[in-house]
Amino acid sequence: MQFGHFDDEAREYVITTPHTPYPWINYLGSQEFFGLVSHTGGGYCFYRDAKLRRLTRYRYNNVPVDDGGRYFSINDGGDVWSPGYRPYKTELDSFETRHGMGYTRITGARGGLTASVLLFVPVDVNAEIHRVELTNTTDARKDVDLFSFVEFALWNAEDDQTNYQRNLSIGEVEVEDGAIFHKTEYRERRDHYAVYGVNAPIAGFDTDRDTFLGFGNGFDEAAVPHAGQSQNSVASGWYPIASHHLEVSLEPGESRAFTFVLGYLENPRDDKWEAPGVIRKDGARELLARFATDEATLAEFDRLTAHWDSLLGSYTVESGHDKLDRMVNTWNQYQCMVTYNMSRSASFFETGMGRGMGFRDSSQDLLGFVHLVPERARERIIDIASTQFEDGSAYHQYQPLTKRGNHTLGSGFNDDPLWLILGVAAYIKETGDFAILDEQVPFDNDESKAESLMEHLKRSFDFTVNNKGPHGLPLIGRADWNDCLNLNCFSTEPGESFQTTGNRTGGVAESVFIAGMFAAIGPEYVALARRRGDDAEAARAEQAIEEMKAAVLEHGWDGDWFLRAYDYFGNKVGSAENTDGQIWIEPQGFCIMGGIGVEDGRAARALDSVRERLNTPHGIVLLNPPYREYHVELGEVTSYPPGYKENAGIFCHNNPWVIIAETVIGRPERAWEYWKQIAPAYREEQSEVHRLEPYVYAQMIAGKDAVRHGEAKNSWLTGTASWNFITVSQYLLGVRPDWDGLRIEPCIGAEVSDYTVRRTVRGAEYVIRVANSGGTEPSLVVDGRPLDGTVVPYAEPGSVVEVSVTV
Ligand code: GLC
Ligand code: GLC
Repeated sequence: MQFGHFDDEAREYVITTPHTPYPWINYLGSQEFFGLVSHTGGGYCFYRDAKLRRLTRYRYNNVPVDDGGRYFSINDGGDVWSPGYRPYKTELDSFETRHGMGYTRITGARGGLTASVLLFVPVDVNAEIHRVELTNTTDARKDVDLFSFVEFALWNAEDDQTNYQRNLSIGEVEVEDGAIFHKTEYRERRDHYAVYGVNAPIAGFDTDRDTFLGFGNGFDEAAVPHAGQSQNSVASGWYPIASHHLEVSLEPGESRAFTFVLGYLENPRDDKWEAPGVIRKDGARELLARFATDEATLAEFDRLTAHWDSLLGSYTVESGHDKLDRMVNTWNQYQCMVTYNMSRSASFFETGMGRGMGFRDSSQDLLGFVHLVPERARERIIDIASTQFEDGSAYHQYQPLTKRGNHTLGSGFNDDPLWLILGVAAYIKETGDFAILDEQVPFDNDESKAESLMEHLKRSFDFTVNNKGPHGLPLIGRADWNDCLNLNCFSTEPGESFQTTGNRTGGVAESVFIAGMFAAIGPEYVALARRRGDDAEAARAEQAIEEMKAAVLEHGWDGDWFLRAYDYFGNKVGSAENTDGQIWIEPQGFCIMGGIGVEDGRAARALDSVRERLNTPHGIVLLNPPYREYHVELGEVTSYPPGYKENAGIFCHNNPWVIIAETVIGRPERAWEYWKQIAPAYREEQSEVHRLEPYVYAQMIAGKDAVRHGEAKNSWLTGTASWNFITVSQYLLGVRPDWDGLRIEPCIGAEVSDYTVRRTVRGAEYVIRVANSGGTEPSLVVDGRPLDGTVVPYAEPGSVVEVSVTV
């Protein structure tokens, strides 16, 4: 069953009922000001950091699940309703929400009035725009009352949810010329404020929540909209809000539009007052003036559309397969942008108060983002590397406002360092900017300890070399990519964090997965060393990689698949000898991506085992059989009920590794089939099972052992976005930037017969026409001449290169 449909032309997902199985959301903003908005108008916004600069309030674990947001209320002769359906849930004659690139348009109609709310964050503006258009579709004049509503958070989202003894006394606002200013804590150490204004005369306002709702009422019973009259309340403590009242007269057929602006502004500390106790408001006045007319608002909206046209222009495909095209051209890239911006901080599954920027997460997010805005990827690389320690290891995360590493999520995840090499390699292949390797980058954010980025990569590489266990395999540390495989943790205290609790020392826990990573990512380091003329270093690194591969073949192979790990005591994890957790997905993907077992047939055997033991119609589960009880020596993975999360859930993040592995051994049909299993557009028809947004990936789909197999959780913020984009764009469609040229090696099922990819890289455009019959040995013709091999040399900026491929 579907709850909407794609509009590919407009790059929108159109939701046609408020009754989706869960709030289906979108993101506004892609620079500093961000908003989350559900299809019924729920959500919140913040400036840069979802925890420390939260503008509007959002409640977690709420009933109903998505209550609170930007609400527009209409009182049409006593009939009170909202175009987003919530909060009143008054039946609408029509409802439609269009989630597009950085904007959402919610349209509802009732009783001959259509109300459409367009929400977006303009390019380079720190504000959310709410453009409300009312249309009278009757043949009589209408006089209606329109009320806006947002509820302010007292800036620090966590404190806002906990510290009521203080917070209920400190709320402050100002109202001037119809604009409402939120200034809690501005009197002391804050130099920032929020404004909510509108480009039309108002009939009244409210800033005190209890007055607006009426004490004891829910949003759906809001007193002011029902009365049709504002109270001009001025908040003092308790719960500051902002609501405007507009009286709107509409002739038959007439439309009128209003622009509401919700902005964030900062003042210089020594010049923050206009008069004693009165905020200096020049910034806000300028901001509001910029949106004084409807033309100006629409022009800003056009600018946003143009911005996305240009962002999405660097990789497009035309294949005649709608679902494939819309994933590649629009939604997967869009999700890469959002994930890159948010890391794992703010979604409807992440509160924005917990995690900052993950070292491993952000390094992987780069992969799917780097072609969109390479300069920002460069900056991110420097930020991430700056939190590395001198021995190559890293803090697991850093805070976006301070850019400093912290221990909140622990450290000692021994896979972390290698992801940095992968991210940097992807950046250089995209841009050719080898100079980044000479940037001086601090260790542990300490400038006195700065070394070149290349030196950071060396330390990353050597961290694995220097931390091996008795089988010559990498020590796992706290965990590897799988945060929940905690082999040194031995946690027995309820509620203790597996991420930060003290680790036991003296054990020998090793990870075959990190060994696979080393084999797959190590060669990027070798290539960089060689290009810098350091052949001795390249040879040394190659030697280390060969040793690792040999160790995997000798100690990391279980007979029909790759082992997962050795535990603290040296016992096998992920072996046919085990009762549960006999086979795990991660090493099968990465070892083969690293070329291990490709020649002697073990790779094919491992992938056949994956198919037999792990595959389902909803995707490939993480392990099998699921753990049925808690194993103290394995950690968090065994804490989950069977079929969920890391305990045999379908982790959409590492399905792509198996897909890439299938392309490595040349099996395009399987690769294509696996990709379709989890691609949201292909799952749209089963939305009532999947439950989450059909336009973006979720981190997890419940596995075959779960009670609710096929049901997704944790949409939007997941490394899944990047890895699936890499997989489909670089491995299936097969267009992959390499050091000296664009590597073109399609490996996609014969179902996709002919397709054209347009790729802009390093300033030149490549038009790649592929005639595909599901083969694996492409032959290329470049500008009319047959090419030896599959790497099309990079062309001069500005040129257009025509490539024909037969495969
Ligand atoms: C989450 C984390 C990621 C981790 C994965 C597997 O997605 O963000 O860092 O690799 O879970 O545990
Ligand atoms: C939990 C989750 C895992 C996530 C981690 C982040 O362990 O299961 O997916 O990566 O938390 O802290």
